[in-house]
Amino acid sequence: MKIKSAEFVMSNSDVAKCPKSRLPEYAFIGRSNVGKSSLINMLTSRKSLAKTSGRPGKTQLINHFLINNNWHLVDLPGYGYARVSKSSKKVFQKFITQYFGSREQLVTAFVLVDIRHTPQPIDLEFMQWLGENGIPFSIIFTKADKLRPQAIEKHVDDYKNILLETWVEVPNYFITSSSKDIGKDDVLGYIDGLNEN
Ligand code: GTP
Ligand code: MG
Repeated sequence: MKIKSAEFVMSNSDVAKCPKSRLPEYAFIGRSNVGKSSLINMLTSRKSLAKTSGRPGKTQLINHFLINNNWHLVDLPGYGYARVSKSSKKVFQKFITQYFGSREQLVTAFVLVDIRHTPQPIDLEFMQWLGENGIPFSIIFTKADKLRPQAIEKHVDDYKNILLETWVEVPNYFITSSSKDIGKDDVLGYIDGLNEN
């Protein structure tokens, strides 16, 4: 898929105020600092469409972007950021559960995980929750530039093995690097295929 246009639509903390249109929607979620906003910029070939930062907790709202005038891409805040207060964690959980629970136009979620890390309980629990709620998802491994090819293969295999302890099959997954422009065509091709269905 060629990205001909990518525009910011709106930021929201209230799911009810998200765009009413029925355009197909794809959401990017994962731990703080995993690279959600950077990935969105890589996919759209726009340097600063989504705001990124070396400090976790940069994205705080639900951000809608309109792509090629026919689908929405959604940048979400990260979970699992230890320095966020308990009350804001609760607010966050609430709007994330509301978002996933009510956006009927959501085609699939992409759960981002840092390829360098062993599977973290918070990510596995989140995937479990998506599964229990019937929300389709794929996994996106991020920051692949940080590992050599052999290590990438090993980390992905380890991840698959842990997933297979709870899932009957491994979810669809992608290996990406936003700084090295890796995985872009795979993810965009996948979205393209889903948009055509
Ligand atoms: P929050 O909005 O805080 O939840 O973070 P986020 O998941 O949106 O992460 P963001 O895209 O802001 O990136 C976090 C940090 O990781 C930044 O310093 C990025 O430059 C860096 N980063 C993101 N993707 C990559 C990547 O593919 N490779 C490398 N080496 N660094 C990356
Ligand atoms: Mg972000």
